[in-house]
Amino acid sequence: MESGVMLMNNTWYKDMAVYQIWPRSFCDGNGDGIGDIKGIISKLDYIKSLNVDAIWFSPLYKSPNKDYGYDIADYKSISEDYGTLDDFKTLVAEAHSRGLKVIMDLVINHTSDQHNWFIESKKSKDNPYHDYYIWRKGKGKRPPNNWKATFPGPAWEYNEHLKEYYLHLFAIEQPDLNMDNPKVREEIKDIMRFWLDIGVDGFREDVITFISKKEGLPNGFPIPAACGMEHYKNGPHIHEYLSEFKNDVLSKYDCFTVGEAPMMTPEIALKYITEGKNQELNMMFNFQHMEADCFMMTWIRIPFNLKKLKKAFSSWQTELYGKAWNAIYIENHDQPRVISRYGSEEYRVESGKMLATMYICQSCTPFIYQGQEIGMTNIRLPELDMYEDVFTKNNYKMFKKLGFSHEKIMEIAKYASRDNARTPVQWNAEKNAGFTTADKAWFHINPNYTEINVEAAEKDEDSILNYYRALLKFRKENPIVIYGDYKEHCKNSSELYVYERNYEGKRMLVINSFTDKKVDFTAPEGFDLSKGKLVMTNYKYPATSYNGFKTKPYETRVYMFD
Ligand code: NOJ
Repeated sequence: MESGVMLMNNTWYKDMAVYQIWPRSFCDGNGDGIGDIKGIISKLDYIKSLNVDAIWFSPLYKSPNKDYGYDIADYKSISEDYGTLDDFKTLVAEAHSRGLKVIMDLVINHTSDQHNWFIESKKSKDNPYHDYYIWRKGKGKRPPNNWKATFPGPAWEYNEHLKEYYLHLFAIEQPDLNMDNPKVREEIKDIMRFWLDIGVDGFREDVITFISKKEGLPNGFPIPAACGMEHYKNGPHIHEYLSEFKNDVLSKYDCFTVGEAPMMTPEIALKYITEGKNQELNMMFNFQHMEADCFMMTWIRIPFNLKKLKKAFSSWQTELYGKAWNAIYIENHDQPRVISRYGSEEYRVESGKMLATMYICQSCTPFIYQGQEIGMTNIRLPELDMYEDVFTKNNYKMFKKLGFSHEKIMEIAKYASRDNARTPVQWNAEKNAGFTTADKAWFHINPNYTEINVEAAEKDEDSILNYYRALLKFRKENPIVIYGDYKEHCKNSSELYVYERNYEGKRMLVINSFTDKKVDFTAPEGFDLSKGKLVMTNYKYPATSYNGFKTKPYETRVYMFD
């Protein structure tokens, strides 16, 4: 295994930990109820204090917000809600002066229907921008094929004026770009250069594995959701286009990329991220570990299954090791809060720390989503009109059509909606959780802010916040956490997730309990816990450890052996 390590380049993007900001709900600096750049700048010292090294910004660009920024109307400007391009430049300078890198979200599978390219594109079939998008004639009165959008419904929208349909794999207001058009690819490269020249350090590339569609756009296998995906996921020219972006632009800068890749497996991922001259992306976000309590999407819920979670993590850890690099998140703006899913709100502090340890001690670049570090939980909005998210609204319609009752759908939405992750960050126990000085924040604030907030967590040395700080510091100071190999133990356990790491003669054992029950734990063969050093844990212990013990609720322990 150690030889695998030698093959790998130790570069900055592997050592770093990344904090994700969803700007609208992070911090309001100008008192209009909406998070903004001024607010972000005011919190840079806080972000730095977490021991992270970079910030990924969900889209800050001009957008009509049908999908809150993931529908871009102008790739080279900053939304007025957030500030100006000059404000952004100040943000980059301020972040860099604190040693924090800046990562932009690059959404190039689609634009907003308000983007000038699309406005031109629908004017006439001979408009120079027409071919920037995917326009087709219908089949009689029906769309060109049977593909379905991710935000449910058909993936085609009819335009009366042109008598053609355009493709949208997401919302109707998010038309897909025609990446087969070389002019579109030139535009993308130009956008990349624009931000890299301003000084950004990398991109998170939105649904990047969807950008190349199969020629002829054939019908998909008829399934109710994601129909057609086999014709655009890892499509025919994807490697060609990503190599072009890399060779023409990215390789000329000291920058990195992480691609978002729904339905990705380690085997396919290696085609994109294997290190060496043909590497197209530096890392990938996969979804497999976010499906331990659901089937494909959070809306199709199953009971939490630890074995499913472990299988997902272990396959990525082992299959990539020595060849490519993992990016791991357990929360982001698309996922409900993890404590409310994989942990326990009753044991919020214990399970929050355990979940942090469980993934940050794996070999990866860890991503931490705003509010995760203080253990924010799901808000569970009770009424449909309280939601903002397009996915939630469209899912409601789809489930209604399928015959689900209003009550049942609301029960699912409370658990599954992306809006659970989009409530404003809870900074203190004052009005509007300290997020804004306006009368009202743009979105609902979780009422538990009086108890769960940054200020309270700062004062409590045992808070989840201070645990994240310690854990990220520990990771930074111990290369084994970043570069060690990985071996899973107690594979058959439905309650314990145990793994070891090895690096340059050191060993580390990570024990995580996913239950409030007492579980019998016995140290794996070859480990004598009395000789190990307990370096991270969420309970207080006497100095000596025994090789067999009963776990406490959501307990986590990390032992280091020289
Ligand atoms: C993935 C993004 O993370 C999500 O928020 C967005 O809705 C879709 N891609 C479409 O851009």
